[in-house]
Amino acid sequence: MTDLARRAAWWQRGIVYQVYPRSFQDTNGDGVGDLEGIRRRLDYLAWLGVDAVWISPVFPSPMADFGYDVADYCGIDPLFGTLADFDALLKDAHARGLKVILDFVPNHTSDRHPWFIDSRSARTSARRDWYIWRDGRDGKSGPLPPNNWLSHFGGPAWTFDEASGQYYLHSFLRAQPDLNWRNPHVRAAMHDVLRFWLERGVDGFRVDVIWLLIKDEALRDNPPNPAWQPSQPEIARNLQVHNADRPEVHEVIAEMRAVLDRYAERVLIGEIYLPLARLVTYYGENLGGAHLPFNFQLLETAWRAPAIARLVQDYEQALPPGGWPNWVLGNHDRPRIAARVGAEQARVAAMLLLTLRGTPTMYYGDEIGLAQVAIPPEAVQDPWEKNEPGLGLGRDPVRTPMQWDAGAQAGFTDGARPWLPLAAHHRDCNVAALQDDPRTILSLYRALIDLRRRRSALSIGDFRLVGATESVLVYERALGDERLAVALNFGAEPQPLPDAVAGLQVLLSTRLDRAEALDKPLLRPHEGLVLGPRLA
Ligand code: NOJ
Ligand code: CA
Repeated sequence: MTDLARRAAWWQRGIVYQVYPRSFQDTNGDGVGDLEGIRRRLDYLAWLGVDAVWISPVFPSPMADFGYDVADYCGIDPLFGTLADFDALLKDAHARGLKVILDFVPNHTSDRHPWFIDSRSARTSARRDWYIWRDGRDGKSGPLPPNNWLSHFGGPAWTFDEASGQYYLHSFLRAQPDLNWRNPHVRAAMHDVLRFWLERGVDGFRVDVIWLLIKDEALRDNPPNPAWQPSQPEIARNLQVHNADRPEVHEVIAEMRAVLDRYAERVLIGEIYLPLARLVTYYGENLGGAHLPFNFQLLETAWRAPAIARLVQDYEQALPPGGWPNWVLGNHDRPRIAARVGAEQARVAAMLLLTLRGTPTMYYGDEIGLAQVAIPPEAVQDPWEKNEPGLGLGRDPVRTPMQWDAGAQAGFTDGARPWLPLAAHHRDCNVAALQDDPRTILSLYRALIDLRRRRSALSIGDFRLVGATESVLVYERALGDERLAVALNFGAEPQPLPDAVAGLQVLLSTRLDRAEALDKPLLRPHEGLVLGPRLA
């Protein structure tokens, strides 16, 4: 083992697997996944080989935004189970060597949270300043919102409260009032929340919209976005200048990090949708910020070899010294990778994700090639789709139930109806059907994870771009004496490979059908290869 390998933290070497709890496994027939369901599927996660499971919010919530509207940060919603269920899940996960990461939602609470109920009760409430209240501006026919900020889910980011005669800020739904992170009492209360879960043994947090936590103190209007098109969400009408990515946010994150640092080996992951140059500032001064500022660039980059090559280079160069990279292919808010690039390229994407330098985060279902599920209008659940219909913004299609077997409801529920419809092809596309066939995408994910675990160069080795043509990307990963090459064909034509990889041995093909020496280096259509030195 090299020094680097010895020093690497679990969240540097490991693979994070995101579970959207409503859709993983239901155990009581109500059509909604639960904690006991996740617990029963831990053996699957261990079999797959991932290291950590990040669970989207499971706290008590009116579910206006399916748990991202928290009414009690220190409990479990009855829909998902109890604190005892959570403890059992944590214990069983740890027994299998799996870490558990919770979703911390500090930007806003539910409007049913006791803090907001108190804050709203009177201008003189002791918690009034825990949220962001302002008088309206005078308008001809009554008050106008304090400024032009818009909600991420459409409409103004301000709602007028008749009883107390002021507006409150909500970056998302009106049922999700923003907390005032300038208030030290808010910070202290939220640090207590972190400690509550850390003491229970959770291994870290994914922090929701961490780059939005602090807003401009003077609440200045945002400038208009000249490039906005009506086909885009309403929030994009303005440039998010004064309500996002404020310099003061880094102090808030450093304080959260300090709370985690009192415990051994916990990880802080931040949700951040910003360009690279801004994203990397979230590692924080002296790297005392987020351990992993989520890198969502793969979700937004054209699926072509030159664009991906440039992205990886730019990201590697932008990282601060000591900043650990990470990569994401999908999540509960963004299009499914298999829908975006197609079933064949989904395999190339898997190989890319699991061979780049940095911590990969997988999204449940991607490993079975789950694509997007069309949701009929009467089945729509997502409040964003309801608020801004017809723009294709709805997130239900990427949140459909995990498909476990060929049963009536794909093994997801014994009940009559899952909360969102299953994919039409669930009788063929499910874990049981794919698990035993050595050529399926599920087998590929497992083989990649296994290879990544066996070859440290793949997880923590250096990255070097070998070259990129119109459709082929080739890079090298190296650690100590171990040198591996990865070659990915983003196109539908066979492609020659550079001489640099001639004579190497195929360790893994995305088609799972060859392990030969590459005498005539050629990539088949949509093929990806991991290559290593020829075996003796
Ligand atoms: C980001 C989360 O990922 C998304 O699902 C949620 O709706 C918003 N934050 C609001 O919490
Ligand atoms: Ca259930």
